[in-house]
Amino acid sequence: MEKIYAVLPKKIGRISPWLYGVFAEHIGGVFYDGLYVGKDSPVENVRGFRKAIVDKMKEARIPLIRWPGGCFAEVYDWRDGIGPQEKRPVRINWWTERDGRYEPNRVGTDEFLDLCAMTGAEPYFAANITSLTPLAIRDWIDYCNSPAGTTTMARLREENGHREPYGVKLWGVGNETWGGGGRMSPESYAMEYRKYAEIMKNADPKIELIASGANASDYSWTRRMLERIAGGQGPMDGMSFHYYSFSGDDPTGFDTEGWYRLLGKANRIEELIRRHFAGVASYGMEDKGRLVIDEWGAWHPDGSGPSRGYNLFEQQSTLRDAALAALTLNHFNNHADKIKIATVAQLVNNLHALFLAGGEHAIVTPTWHVFNLYKEHQGARAVETFAESAPLPENLPGISVSASVKEGILTLTAANLSAEEEKEAAVVLFGGKAAGPAVIRTLWDEDLRAHNTFEEPDRIRVTEEKPERFSGTLRLPKGGIAVLSLPVEEA
Ligand code: AHR
Repeated sequence: MEKIYAVLPKKIGRISPWLYGVFAEHIGGVFYDGLYVGKDSPVENVRGFRKAIVDKMKEARIPLIRWPGGCFAEVYDWRDGIGPQEKRPVRINWWTERDGRYEPNRVGTDEFLDLCAMTGAEPYFAANITSLTPLAIRDWIDYCNSPAGTTTMARLREENGHREPYGVKLWGVGNETWGGGGRMSPESYAMEYRKYAEIMKNADPKIELIASGANASDYSWTRRMLERIAGGQGPMDGMSFHYYSFSGDDPTGFDTEGWYRLLGKANRIEELIRRHFAGVASYGMEDKGRLVIDEWGAWHPDGSGPSRGYNLFEQQSTLRDAALAALTLNHFNNHADKIKIATVAQLVNNLHALFLAGGEHAIVTPTWHVFNLYKEHQGARAVETFAESAPLPENLPGISVSASVKEGILTLTAANLSAEEEKEAAVVLFGGKAAGPAVIRTLWDEDLRAHNTFEEPDRIRVTEEKPERFSGTLRLPKGGIAVLSLPVEEA
């Protein structure tokens, strides 16, 4: 029998709720006809946002949303997105050359912040440092955060219906500056960063600034950039990196080899977390440079979603994507002491989405279920775990696991990464014992390629057991993800 150990006295750190954040970019169908249908739509909505999605975001307690890009941010002028919607300009946007669609600016700063308020999510803005000046970004901060009745920007916000400041705390300084965000070297980005960061913090010293970091395993980017930011050369409150797992295969027609290949790629994020953070630590910036993994997820060839390719990067999601999310979130929990924020790309109708929507339809994907199943980890103390399980192809562990404790309840999340075998795992608690009835929820399907569709929206479900006494074992169907909630008494 396989074994899962939870070592209750070994606390890793508090799991920031922000590790369960999402990325929502103005691209393809994320906003228009995805999240946002407009106030006059026949689709049930809350001030223009699809109610079905708002409700499910609240249910899964989505704690943070990164916005408005991504690459979209490189040519986004926030001033286009305020004031009466019908007067806002329609612009070419970053993605127009890919999909021929224009940005109508119906969702701008005030609408986005309304979405955050209605879902309880923290806003995390990506500032455009590619084509806007530091002064224009200063004005954005001024618009969002200056006290009522003070500046011209604060008065403009008031005219637009928002007297009180929003207090937007989290600001990314650029996006993928090694690529679409300016094609910079780490050295030139660091100098740009220092300039923008100075002006941004000066506008509101309470904001937190995230430096735009490396692509995947480019550790030299981290080193060379920090060389010119560390030691007080520039204010910094977090450092991002992006990591996508590219499948190159059919998201709903993969074979067993494709299952392991993709999960094997996703599993590499653990090394990235350790090595980028080691880079941060080597500059003595453990507090100021906690990691912000603000784009992660599976990237399949597009065209498999309900819009059949109309929505750029839209893809279907199966239990393979759910396993990828479970594995990744377990790594985040297990490195809770190193990570400040993480946002899966993206929220709706795009890469590794939590929702698929269009017209009257809105459905959750298996990945939404993972976020919902894992939500009790948010704000809990992560504890050390390890699993004894036969390894799988692509250096994958047989079982991926993490655990946390909050208010006397242990939340243990385990994913059986085998595409072939069911597992029965004994759960061994060190430094504590079960002290009440358990709840076990399991996400699985006989067919690993199964997925929810507009026609069959609840194909992928969660089953729930509530045994009076926990038997001490977890049944993990092949590709299944289980969550054990158990009251515990710590020794
Ligand atoms: O998520 C899609 C795109 O991928 C983002 O706009 C960009 O930052 C990344 O390259």
